[in-house]
Amino acid sequence: MNNLIVAIDGPAGSGKSTIAKLLAKKYDLTYIDTGAMYRMITLYLLENNIDINDLKEVERVLNTVNLDMQGDKFYLDNVDVSTKIREKRINDNVSKVASIKIVRSNLVDLQRKISNNKDVILDGRDVGTVIFPNAQVKIFLIASPEERARRRYNEFLEKKTEITYDEVLKSIKERDHIDSTRDESPFVKADDAIELDSTNLTIEDVINFISKEIEKAK
Ligand code: DC
Repeated sequence: MNNLIVAIDGPAGSGKSTIAKLLAKKYDLTYIDTGAMYRMITLYLLENNIDINDLKEVERVLNTVNLDMQGDKFYLDNVDVSTKIREKRINDNVSKVASIKIVRSNLVDLQRKISNNKDVILDGRDVGTVIFPNAQVKIFLIASPEERARRRYNEFLEKKTEITYDEVLKSIKERDHIDSTRDESPFVKADDAIELDSTNLTIEDVINFISKEIEKAK
């Protein structure tokens, strides 16, 4: 029996990580947050003042840095960076880092490696198109930019980050644009992915919908 692979692709604020975590628990799958890996590399480059146009240096970082994930915790060279990778400075820079070819090929290799021989659920932008085109379940989870900005704004409020709703909306639209127009594996729906618009759905609605697809695939 092949291992089960569930791919959840979607833009920022579509709810993909919330949904993927709940489904991982429900079906005993290993959850892999692929965006967190791009965020960790971005953090390293920022903290070490590395110019992202210096591809030799970026490659050196990719070959030496150690990324580790344990549940909700993310470790960069054994340091817990789970909170730092969600900061605004990371949001503002991660799309640029994620458009670098060598970064993508390196992280895609790692994502395949850590998924090997496991039943997994991954969330990201290219899971169903590039990382696992053969995933048994492929969901393309979307929501309107305004609803996604509202969700992200509420998360920032909880963390007491000073930011306005309009700033969040602008940043979400900018990221959507960079992610979907980049040359390297742009964020697009896989032909065989099921599109689900969560704008007016509850978390429970989304879970119920995807659960049916997982049960069909099992
Ligand atoms: O899902 P997220 O917001 O944590 O993703 C952060 C950034 O990383 C996002 O702007 C696009 C990029 N990303 C990507 O290009 N490919 C993935 N598989 C996951 C994320």
